[in-house]
Amino acid sequence: MRTKVTVVGAGNVGATTAQRLAERGYADVVLLDIVEGLAEGKALDMYEASPVVGVDSIIRGSTDYAATEGSEIVVITSGVARKPGMSRDDLLSINMKIVDEVTRKAIAASPEAVIIVVSNPLDAMCHVAYEAAGIPASRVVGMAGILDTARYRSFVAEALNVSVEDVQAYVLGGHGDTMVPLASYTTAAGIPIGELLPQEQIDAIIQRTRDGGAEIVNLLKTGSAFYAPSAAVAQMVDSIALDKRRILPCAALLEGQYGVDGLFIGVPVILGGGGIERVLEISLTDEEQAMLQHSADAVQELVKDMARLAE
Ligand code: NAI
Ligand code: 2OP
Repeated sequence: MRTKVTVVGAGNVGATTAQRLAERGYADVVLLDIVEGLAEGKALDMYEASPVVGVDSIIRGSTDYAATEGSEIVVITSGVARKPGMSRDDLLSINMKIVDEVTRKAIAASPEAVIIVVSNPLDAMCHVAYEAAGIPASRVVGMAGILDTARYRSFVAEALNVSVEDVQAYVLGGHGDTMVPLASYTTAAGIPIGELLPQEQIDAIIQRTRDGGAEIVNLLKTGSAFYAPSAAVAQMVDSIALDKRRILPCAALLEGQYGVDGLFIGVPVILGGGGIERVLEISLTDEEQAMLQHSADAVQELVKDMARLAE
């Protein structure tokens, strides 16, 4: 039996995620979009590639949530993406309505699903999905930390001229300008980054990571990143669908960990068959803890803004 995965939103991130998942072979994928024909057309195109790719996954597109019934995982990518000059937070008022609506419909069709939220502003949209779904927090998880960490790892590997596989790191906190790259947990094959690069180069890499989303938006001009984001989502789906229990930086509802209560924010979690199996509380330097608190404060402001917009 293949795992059934629904991807809501057949735009850049959704369609690329669906393709990555279908080509893994272990999942059947339903791609759903509000635009008539869009998900159906892209899914049919992907399905017609399967004899060449060599997988038997079924991939179907629809505008109807009936097609998504019984999904084990639902990925929410529907919404508006950034244009040049827009911050992720500018997306708040539009995307909160979309994420609320699609979560209610998706969970009604698949009450046992683990929900992976991708729409921006990410941490705030996790709150929307959590409240709309009415399911345990362990089954609502946001994708951002893997992407931010992947950008950081790529830039570190490039600076050291070593394999990206050897660079391990964490970027925690909210998915925005206040994200927290942890220099203290950045290593190349176990060697601390501080022994390999001068501090000013590390600082420049951290800044480029913080600006990573905007760097792509400014180049593309008509949308935001989707190749690295979809790779990050697929890694999360692998860990859940195959119960791999990977330790990954993901947005999770904190209940006192890191001194934060009642907010979704990026932290290391064990991701398994039930969703978030455990939030890992790692020790941070005083400076990192202060940056994480600053990031949590920024997420809290967005949650307050959403409450005002909903009045
Ligand atoms: P896109 O514009 O290419 O695709 C969005 C899709 O959502 C469109 O096809 C649209 O028709 C669909 N949609 C809108 N309302 C809908 C509804 N009510 N029901 C079903 N589908 C609906 O955008 P893209 O590039 O795919 O990005 C999607 C979202 O993901 C954006 O909010 C973007 O900011 C966010 N994002 C988040 C990342 C993260 O790290 N968390 C990384 C990359 C993107
Ligand atoms: C990114 O970081 C747009 O949030 C998205 O690329």
